[in-house]
Amino acid sequence: MDKENTNLMEKIISLCKRRGFVYPGSEIYGGLAGTWDYGPFGVALKNNIKNLWWKTFVESREDMYGVDAAILMNSNVWKASGHVDTFTDPLVECIKCKKRFRADQLDPTLLPPLIKGRVEEGCPDCGGKMSEERKFNMMFKTQIGAVEDSSATIYLRPETAQGMFVNFKNIIDSFHPKLPFGLAQIGKAFRNEITPRDFIFRIREFEQMEIEYFIKKDDWEKYFEYWRGEMMQWMEAIGLDMNHVHELEVAKEDRAHYSSRTIDFYFDFPFGSKELYGLAYRTDFDLKNHGLSYQDEESGTKLVPHVVEPTFGVDRTVLALMASVYKEDASGEEVRSYLAFKPSIAPVICAVSPLLKNKPELRDYAHIVYRMLKDEFGRVMWDDNGNIGKRYRRQDEIGTPWCIVIDFDTLTDDSVTIRDRDTGEQERIKKEEIVNYIKEKLN
Ligand code: GAP
Repeated sequence: MDKENTNLMEKIISLCKRRGFVYPGSEIYGGLAGTWDYGPFGVALKNNIKNLWWKTFVESREDMYGVDAAILMNSNVWKASGHVDTFTDPLVECIKCKKRFRADQLDPTLLPPLIKGRVEEGCPDCGGKMSEERKFNMMFKTQIGAVEDSSATIYLRPETAQGMFVNFKNIIDSFHPKLPFGLAQIGKAFRNEITPRDFIFRIREFEQMEIEYFIKKDDWEKYFEYWRGEMMQWMEAIGLDMNHVHELEVAKEDRAHYSSRTIDFYFDFPFGSKELYGLAYRTDFDLKNHGLSYQDEESGTKLVPHVVEPTFGVDRTVLALMASVYKEDASGEEVRSYLAFKPSIAPVICAVSPLLKNKPELRDYAHIVYRMLKDEFGRVMWDDNGNIGKRYRRQDEIGTPWCIVIDFDTLTDDSVTIRDRDTGEQERIKKEEIVNYIKEKLN
């Protein structure tokens, strides 16, 4: 990572903590590697992303069925899906310091100079000899019930996908859908990553938004292209910097065990171009292994549908968005940083302030405006902390598109100041125009 990008990453992590987006997990106990907690604005941002995704891919469509399956599943699910045998990463361990690494992520060029050249495959931390490579299953194991033997071992799901496959028959029985149709789910997934890293990019507990789209075998290429387009449109709609999005055709040897074709959507994160989302043609692998089929009314035959799977990581979406919208404006006396979220995605739509905190007449008026906007938009913040300059800086860093200030003129002419986050420009508008002003910009 060059210096500029290291700085950008540090700025994003520090802003996320300072302003209440993302905190290190279990921080007061020294943290827990690979876990992060979302604070109020992080939750709001994630909810906006998830709600928009659900609206786009489930509610506004006629061929999609939402499910919310249990995280804990019968361990036979993971045997049938191939995860028990093949969901592994290559692990090497330093024999001296015992630190573990993913063998495919050890970059010889990153080894310290003394170690480099001396022990080519030495531990990047201490230069010690490394163990042989072995396969490490990334699924978290836990015990169900009161008996602690192998029959009680279950796994935390490493993908939400299987929760949809195992409900395939239920959806058919309740809704009788015609092919093509899809199941969609948003939920947590868990992977015991050997080396969690890069803030919320590679973590051990994360969220996925996934679709299993069931089709006839001969149609797979058509629907693969269709979902490729839909995924691109989604990324544009939420405001990702599309100059930083690239497609990568995944080579056969790098594809997941279930996939016959995969395209990864890469994003240029500050720490390098890395996978943001994936699109896989899972063939009939999963339904076949679960022994599930579909009665096709058209042909009167029983068939096993094939599957195209668009998958979206929520946490990586948050990070890619942060990197896309983080801006610095150096035109004033000091550099102003702000998050240029689209208003539809921003955690806070607008903030309301009385110009002076200690003037009851301004506060009372501001409260009426605040309540009116909160009833209308929900995501509205009351902000009377510090002077007005400080409030603007704070709201800029939260990414609030508009700040509304009630001053002494408001008391005589019912007009307020509305300030635009991106330009810093201020307008005066009447109190009764505020809702429509914001609604027009939201649309
Ligand atoms: N059902 C298919 C599946 O799980 P995947 O490529 O392994 O495919 C899908 O994961 C998406 O989940 C990724 O594109 C990424 O956005 C997200 N993801 C995977 N592992 C992650 C991790 N350790 N931390 C954060 N997000 C992760």
